Amino acid sequence: MSRPRIVVTRRIPQPALDLLNAAGDVWLSPHDRALTREELFDAVQSADAIICLLHDKIDADLLDAAGPQLKVVANVAVGYDNVDTQAIASRGTVWFTNTPGVLTEATADIAFSLILMATRRLGEGERMIRSQTPWSWNMFFMLGTGLQGKTLGIVGLGLIGQATARRAKAFGMEIVYSGRRQADPTIEQELGARYISFDELLETADVVSLHCPLNADTRHLIDADRLRQMRSDAYLINTTRGPVVDEAALAAALRSGELAGAGLDVFEAEPKVDVGLLDLENAVLIPHLGSATIETRTAMGVLAATNAIAVLRGEEPPSPVVRAS
Ligand code: GLV
Repeated sequence: MSRPRIVVTRRIPQPALDLLNAAGDVWLSPHDRALTREELFDAVQSADAIICLLHDKIDADLLDAAGPQLKVVANVAVGYDNVDTQAIASRGTVWFTNTPGVLTEATADIAFSLILMATRRLGEGERMIRSQTPWSWNMFFMLGTGLQGKTLGIVGLGLIGQATARRAKAFGMEIVYSGRRQADPTIEQELGARYISFDELLETADVVSLHCPLNADTRHLIDADRLRQMRSDAYLINTTRGPVVDEAALAAALRSGELAGAGLDVFEAEPKVDVGLLDLENAVLIPHLGSATIETRTAMGVLAATNAIAVLRGEEPPSPVVRAS
């Protein structure tokens, strides 16, 4: 039997490539950047498996370009707003997998780092030192907001939301959450988390942290009206996907004092960032680092490779999103 053709759209950690090389003939993009749409179409021709990254748009046209022998698309990410899962499902012959679980702790670390950075003004303080702005300690110098006894509102209590809540609990915060459905009672109990409406969460939480996936229902979930609903001394944290927040509306709310601060790891049109955010001291801005540890990226690559290889062997992959029939 001929070896399967496995297309990897951008370099992934070596242990994952080693697994794939043992399982088939790997085509690895030679570029240190996302492939253009044309390059992607060329690359996927005759592929049995495509290992793709969050910047690769996977839709019906791309599946057509790959051809009828395609068996699996393995996204090296837990979020899959880059993938038209309907188009894959309607084929009936292609599996689609993602990488849940392995990036939970790393992403929650970043969410909590942003909470601390925003509430304790750490970015602002760092910029002050680096710019050699004169400063001296006094009782009122650069006061932030303490977290003990404050309420964290988690939007979407999935794995990453839960891991963020666990950190918040250790910092003495109360946890409330909203979402499509109420969590398991054992999870609620462990976190001391209370299920409330999205409206109530926005109106009451001291810190709102977004952990819902990006889809048609959550695009601009946080818009100018929702920002107005939040308390003026509240903070907004986004580690999910940029388009969940209307970035221009957020910049305006931060500038006018309608909101105390924000911590953002993701942006609407990465790598671009709304220019209105750039000069705001109360916005902490970091470049999509949620899963960016050596351990986590390796685990993500290995899980994606394991998913693809399982399908190529006719086995059930560990993390299917769309099954072939
Ligand atoms: C990263 O952003 C992911 O969704 O895995």
